[in-house]
Amino acid sequence: MATILVTGGTGFIGKSIVKLLCQLGYKVRVSTRSLKQIKALYELSCEFLVGDLSDLSFARKCCSGVDAVIHLVGIIVEQGQDTFKKVHVQITKNMIQASKENGVKRFLHMSALGTRPNARSRYHQTKWTAEELVRNSELDWTIFQPSVVFGIGDDFTKRLYKMLFFQNNPLLLFPLIDGGKSKLQPIFVGNVAEAFVRAIPNPNTFHKTYPLTGPEVYSLKEILLLILDKGQIPYKIESFPFYTLSRIVMALLSFLVYPLIGLKALFEHWRGDFWAPYLLSWLLLSLLLRKSMEKRLLFNVPSAVALPLVGIVEKLIKNPPITKEMLVMLQEDSIADSSEAIKELDLQLVSFKTLLPDIIDAIVM
Ligand SMILES: NC(=O)c1ccc[n+]([C@@H]2O[C@H](COP(=O)([O-])OP(=O)(O)OC[C@H]3O[C@@H](n4cnc5c(N)ncnc54)[C@H](OP(=O)(O)O)[C@@H]3O)[C@@H](O)[C@H]2O)c1
Repeated sequence: MATILVTGGTGFIGKSIVKLLCQLGYKVRVSTRSLKQIKALYELSCEFLVGDLSDLSFARKCCSGVDAVIHLVGIIVEQGQDTFKKVHVQITKNMIQASKENGVKRFLHMSALGTRPNARSRYHQTKWTAEELVRNSELDWTIFQPSVVFGIGDDFTKRLYKMLFFQNNPLLLFPLIDGGKSKLQPIFVGNVAEAFVRAIPNPNTFHKTYPLTGPEVYSLKEILLLILDKGQIPYKIESFPFYTLSRIVMALLSFLVYPLIGLKALFEHWRGDFWAPYLLSWLLLSLLLRKSMEKRLLFNVPSAVALPLVGIVEKLIKNPPITKEMLVMLQEDSIADSSEAIKELDLQLVSFKTLLPDIIDAIVM
């Protein structure tokens, strides 16, 4: 049976592809920067090579003796030395060169829907550059461009869930950027895995670029409401942010202004008859805030306002729930016709809505 190298095999999508390859009897080699990442694949009989694919000699070692390369490495947030340019472009360049030098002809490349020349986000720009390198490589390449990928453990649903529920969001406010109008066509991770694995021996898929999209189109707002409904959490959507602003003002008064006034009064020995109305009004305010917090508030924010705000948050917080780059991508629709891939690779698409309860249960556990 053929030996397949999977770069990025330890990631969310990579794990599904590696598992499917192993089930089908392929010999699988996985490259990783750290053995810590391989826990979920431990029971599988894969070969693991540890190193940095931006080092050409490691890329060469990984490609030695394999029959095909599935190249999945990619990032959604730049961190330190791991820039989009390095991870998407430089590593792809290395993988192409290492494949050629080792006589590996078959190269399956992971890109993303929305890549194009002069794309707005640097994620899409660098993914496009990487695609062009693959297309001009003279290898037997196939490129896949998925929309957002869902499944147990996916980053997309997890981020939204954590923002909608308690973590990172003490005031339970959720901004709907431009009304959450952008459209998405989520595809199941198992379908993505099938597409890659079925394409390996299929010459009809050589030199083709396939969008991969799921069976349903949702607006971002619809996805958020599905998540809220599943959690049976009451919410309110407001187009004019009256409740949102009043909640922010009440929180500022309760947790900042009132305690400061109280401290000042203590130090300055204010008169005793000051304390009763002070404490009563504080109690009343806290009760009002508590009442208002019974519902999550989803409020519309124009992207022109949200972008600079997210830029500031990104500079202040180490792992922000959303980055400017993600916001730029979320402003665009991520939908496409994937009937060619469905037909060629015989995909039975799984619905996001159907799997969502299981995805959320796994996040909550
Ligand atoms: N998830 C989606 O919704 C989605 C949609 C469209 C396209 N994609 C693309 O699909 C691919 C996989 O996505 P995913 O969601 O599975 O991502 P993920 O869970 O974050 O996994 C990323 C993988 O890339 C590897 N990696 C990251 N930085 C690396 C670096 N500097 N050098 C070498 N390896 C590095 C990681 O390997 P180690 O940590 O083990 O080294 C990991 O296995 C990416 O190219 C992504 O852009 C994803």
